[in-house]
Amino acid sequence: MTSKAPKFHDYDVLILGSGAAGLSTALHTNQSLHIAVLSKAELSSGNTSYAQGGISAVLDDNDSFEQHVADTISAGVGLCDPEVVAKTVSEGSEVIDWLLSIGVDFTRDNNPQNAQQLHLTREGGHTRRRVAHVADATGNAVQNQLIDEVRKRDHIDLHANYIAVDLITTRKLGHKDDRCVGAYILNIETGEVEVFRAKNVVLATGGASKVYLYTSNPDGACGDGLAMAWRAGCRAANMEFMQFHPTCLYHPKAKSYLLSEAIRGEGGKIILEDGSEFLHDFDPQGVLAPRDIVARAIDYKMKKHGLDSVFLDISHKSVDFIKDHFPNIHARCLSLGYDMTKQPIPVVPAAHYTCGGIATDEHGQTDIDQLYAIGEVAFTGLHGANRMASNSLLECLAYGRFAGQHINKSTNINAKHIDIPAWDASRVSDSDEEIVVAHNWDELRRFMWDYVGIVRSTKRMQRAKHRVDLLLSEIDEYYSNFKVTSDLIELRNIAVVADLIIRSALKRKESRGLHYTLDYPETDSSLDNINTILTPNLNESAAGWETETQLTSGHK
Ligand code: FAD
Ligand code: SIN
Repeated sequence: MTSKAPKFHDYDVLILGSGAAGLSTALHTNQSLHIAVLSKAELSSGNTSYAQGGISAVLDDNDSFEQHVADTISAGVGLCDPEVVAKTVSEGSEVIDWLLSIGVDFTRDNNPQNAQQLHLTREGGHTRRRVAHVADATGNAVQNQLIDEVRKRDHIDLHANYIAVDLITTRKLGHKDDRCVGAYILNIETGEVEVFRAKNVVLATGGASKVYLYTSNPDGACGDGLAMAWRAGCRAANMEFMQFHPTCLYHPKAKSYLLSEAIRGEGGKIILEDGSEFLHDFDPQGVLAPRDIVARAIDYKMKKHGLDSVFLDISHKSVDFIKDHFPNIHARCLSLGYDMTKQPIPVVPAAHYTCGGIATDEHGQTDIDQLYAIGEVAFTGLHGANRMASNSLLECLAYGRFAGQHINKSTNINAKHIDIPAWDASRVSDSDEEIVVAHNWDELRRFMWDYVGIVRSTKRMQRAKHRVDLLLSEIDEYYSNFKVTSDLIELRNIAVVADLIIRSALKRKESRGLHYTLDYPETDSSLDNINTILTPNLNESAAGWETETQLTSGHK
């Protein structure tokens, strides 16, 4: 039997992820650097393409940076890092100008006197109109334009269908220092694990909402980067704050299709079947309260009255207005039998966004030298206990620039690549029990939904902890004995992320933002500015960990 020679690839910068974070980082690096951008599926398969509402930025005379900062901090319920918020928010107009310069065709104001002005919509938590958008499919427009722009750059190689298995660090190779020097990557088409050596590695792998049974996210949102960085020795922060979007279409065939918050920003109401509104009973901002409040209020009503869903209603607006502002959502609902110009649409909350992540500094650098984390995988301190709508793409694009510029100045670019052993698959065989992987996937997502969802309790979370411990050891054994596949890689990662979420949630003995527990229903003001930081204990087993809590402003 002949075995194929292992493949090695050498790059200055290896970027894992081809969404807004990965591509914008690539586009801000110098043309002298040889860059690889990898995606585990098609280039546009991540969350970015699915974004609807838009990108927040201060672009209106009636708005101000101070107000955008204040709204973000208010939505984040005492856990946003004010310096990070100010730095990110002040990038807003530059981010939009940059996107315009590469051809993103933002929707303009339809008032002929303001035809050159961008149309700005509103979403939850924003006290002003400040969300720039491309109709109701902003992410798709941004993603396509970023890909087109990258394709024009000879120094950037794009690789689809390459899934990272693990990071390679000098510590793991037995050196005294700890730098990231590449990654083992499974080429999904050949089934072989290849070695990508790099002088800087950027995790731009997105979030982890697939840890829940119902989610607005596409299939790849498994927290791969989070788990890889954790295994490599990086701290994970505020993982208890998983965001649930209040309005996903309730339909057996729609796989939690999102109905943008911009629908409420343009006058949509959330009602019960009898037409009554209820959100003002929960918050003075009503339908435009921050997401944690709206999702929890809906969950409360559904449980109290045994409802399958509540309803989102914008049918009081004209047909032209609805088709003009929400052409894609309107068409999708129509294809599933609902006409939003004529009737309220049934909606339920679903997991949407990972507010916590791998701890990073102001350049997007993690705890390990030469390793960056950008976008939804990262914890920068921007979102606190609840992300405000449309601040995520802003963060991806702002930090993409910060990281790109920082990498351009890095001094290690002229150093030689170090020797890395090929992936050792000599002791593993093809799996004879793939069904185990599928079952574990289902079990994990269901118990996370049931026990660690919108409303939690210590008892439920402890139940989830027992189950995830069992799964982790089962997966560990499976991983050691069988050839890696995408499904196994993702299951291994999502189990690590579930464990981080549960540990963080058990540690927070209060309710705040997206973390609501029946055992501690109040917010404890003595915990203002205290983030939950988990630190891996690399001297123990893979599941070893230590925790500490730290002040917001001291997260790096
Ligand atoms: P993604 O865009 O998710 O990209 C992740 C990339 O990493 C993909 O290329 C994937 O293939 C790759 N990857 C992952 N794991 C691996 C691996 N192991 N190996 C190799 N590659 C890997 N935010 C807003 O600000 N405004 C909005 O209007 C908005 N609307 C949204 C609507 C929906 C339905 C959803 C789901 C999200 C929305 N968000 C919105 C959130 C926002 O879209 C995301 O937070 C953001 O796009 C994340 O970008 P990213 O680049 O970090 O990751
Ligand atoms: C939406 O359009 O409702 C999603 C916006 C976001 O997640 O920021």
